[in-house]
Amino acid sequence: MARARKKAARKTSTRTKRASAGGRTRQQDAIALLKADHRQVEELFEQFQSTRSDSRKQSLAQQVCQALKVHTQIEAEIFYPAFLEATADTDIHHEAEVEHDGAKKLIAEIEASGPDDEYYDAKMTVLSEMIKHHVNEEEKRDGMFAEARSSKMDLKGLGERLAQRKSELMSDSGMRAGARRQAEPQSRRRRAVGGVYVNA
Ligand SMILES: [Fe+2]
Ligand SMILES: [Fe+2]
Repeated sequence: MARARKKAARKTSTRTKRASAGGRTRQQDAIALLKADHRQVEELFEQFQSTRSDSRKQSLAQQVCQALKVHTQIEAEIFYPAFLEATADTDIHHEAEVEHDGAKKLIAEIEASGPDDEYYDAKMTVLSEMIKHHVNEEEKRDGMFAEARSSKMDLKGLGERLAQRKSELMSDSGMRAGARRQAEPQSRRRRAVGGVYVNA
């Protein structure tokens, strides 16, 4: 009995440690948070490129699109305006906005189609190239993030706002996906489990 209690206590303390490690992750500054998003999307693109399964492709493409929509939205709502205010660098800011717009169009096309579309892989390849270029513009030596670091931007405060908004947007999209699943006929729902909505 005593041993069981000790074991349970050990488990709880591990859980607490994990939770506080999670807490530290949530307190990333703005740039660390945005860079972590970039790495996550790169990983998803790599997985897309290395799979042959259509249902896996569609699931990964939906995850890429979802992650990019949330990421570009939190940048556009929170980080970019703060960057523009602190640096007045309209060149970098406007180019980034225009690149987001270009990606949005392609994301909408990918979301509306599927692997049976002859151009599906090509669209994903072009999206990945666009994003690679855009990420480089943000992360390169004299790019947006470097300029933000040397400005007076409150990167810690912005990091908290970005994390908060990101979690709101992700839970919104999770709820929408749940509602879609409810509305799906049984036969399509089964297919979706192996594909589109699996990680939505
Ligand atoms: Fe970004
Ligand atoms: Fe961006």
